[in-house]
Amino acid sequence: MLRLPGKTVFVTGASRGIGRAIALCCAREGAAVGVGYRERHDQAAATVREIEALGGKALAVAGDVRDDAQVRAMVQAALRGLGPLDVWVNSAGVEYEEPIEAIREAHWDETFAVNVKGLFFCCRAVGEHMRGRGQGVIVNVASRFGFLGDPNSLPYGASKAAVINLTKALAKKFAPHVRVNAVAPAYTETDMMAHVTPEYTARFIASTPLGRVARPEDTAAAVAFLASDDASFTTGQTLLVDGGYTLK
Ligand SMILES: NC(=O)c1ccc[n+]([C@@H]2O[C@H](COP(=O)([O-])OP(=O)(O)OC[C@H]3O[C@@H](n4cnc5c(N)ncnc54)[C@H](OP(=O)(O)O)[C@@H]3O)[C@@H](O)[C@H]2O)c1
Repeated sequence: MLRLPGKTVFVTGASRGIGRAIALCCAREGAAVGVGYRERHDQAAATVREIEALGGKALAVAGDVRDDAQVRAMVQAALRGLGPLDVWVNSAGVEYEEPIEAIREAHWDETFAVNVKGLFFCCRAVGEHMRGRGQGVIVNVASRFGFLGDPNSLPYGASKAAVINLTKALAKKFAPHVRVNAVAPAYTETDMMAHVTPEYTARFIASTPLGRVARPEDTAAAVAFLASDDASFTTGQTLLVDGGYTLK
């Protein structure tokens, strides 16, 4: 049985990586999908074509989540192109890996502007729409580092802790009609992790009970669950998709 039949889902950061996998997964689960991106139009168009090849409906929508006006324009474009939104997934994110001594202020600001402020702008804009309809689901993409802290990227870990906190606060604010949850993936092979060394990968795998890195599809499946009616009594939660990494 499909999890999202006839639903409309918008995914930020869906031109690449985890967001792209979420968009494809939601399409396979029966949803029409808005493919959000900032600048990589060709990659967003490729995600749209993949969904169409599956027999689904999709629309690429550009917008910088750091800018509230652009976020509101994205929501309006999605509404015009796809109709009322049932689910909004915030996957857009950035990470700058720098040791504490070398953290650049611009990178600190950029991390919080995209991962926290941008995510908040999206939740606020789409939350207004969903609360007006009396229904909706938001799923945020956090990170294991939101729980653990990241000594190699302090701003990133702190930004993802803020995502977990915002998920709880907005779940309370938007209840009872709109559910807000999050997923917290571990190391996933995407462009964001292109810089990691084979040694880091080996250490991660050795520290992970399930013995591998995450696939974008692992997180996508968790998002589809939280977006679906199967999770209809779950709100304010962050589901770790980390192969057991945080158990150690
Ligand atoms: N990869 C991992 O190991 C991992 C682990 C835990 C959590 N996460 C989280 O998972 C999410 C997706 O990560 P990923 O690895 O898939 O990243 P990615 O491959 O680097 O893709 C990042 C996506 O975010 C979009 N984006 C970046 N800045 C934006 C902005 N200002 N406005 C709108 N869109 C913007 C990009 O759009 P363009 O393509 O147009 O640039 C792209 O679609 C992030 O929130 C990340 O923190 C990742």
